[in-house]
Amino acid sequence: MGDATAAIRPFRPGDAGQVAGLVRRCLHAVNGRDYPPDVIDRMCARFTAERFVELSAVRRVYVADDGRVVGTVSRDGNRVYSLFVDPGAAGRGLGRRLLRHVETLAAREGHAHMETGATVTAHSFYLRLGYRDADTGPGSDYLLRKPLPPAGGAGGQCSR
Ligand SMILES: CC(C)(COP(=O)(O)OP(=O)(O)OC[C@H]1O[C@@H](n2cnc3c(N)ncnc32)[C@H](O)[C@@H]1OP(=O)(O)O)[C@@H](O)C(=O)NCCC(=O)NCCS
Repeated sequence: MGDATAAIRPFRPGDAGQVAGLVRRCLHAVNGRDYPPDVIDRMCARFTAERFVELSAVRRVYVADDGRVVGTVSRDGNRVYSLFVDPGAAGRGLGRRLLRHVETLAAREGHAHMETGATVTAHSFYLRLGYRDADTGPGSDYLLRKPLPPAGGAGGQCSR
């Protein structure tokens, strides 16, 4: 489950329940190591199935589909949002693939850099993937940035 064969595809409204479920599992099992239960509860309340449907109207939301949804990431221009990998699928390169997917699409649109807000939990992951601290963003623990290759130079990165 969640290995290199999972297909990254656009979110469909019918995915919303599975996406919200995986985000909840992730928040409790992974982010829960870094945040107290009341903060995790507040985060969970933000990521409902209905909210993902709403967000998909204003952002590009993607899922990793391995027969069921095992990861998700969203993008608005050059900004990454809501990157989550199911705890049962973690550590097999899926987070990297989801991030590269949105980076490649942003580079193709001509963006010179990618930006993301990051939790304490994901901060080291983003550093590992080439992001560097840019600032402290509102509502996020960190704001990180990474230069993107010029348009046309990133085609090989968009692995499925
Ligand atoms: C962060 C997260 C997306 C990583 O997903 P993943 O599929 O387990 O990560 P990958 O297997 O693709 O890891 C890619 C690389 O990052 C490293 N890595 C993964 N998680 C890491 C972490 N927490 N800290 C440091 N490095 C990490 C891996 O070791 C791997 O390194 P490599 O270059 O040696 O191969 C996942 O742990 C997650 O969903 N976390 C909780 C949700 C969250 O906080 N999301 C971000 C919201 S801002």
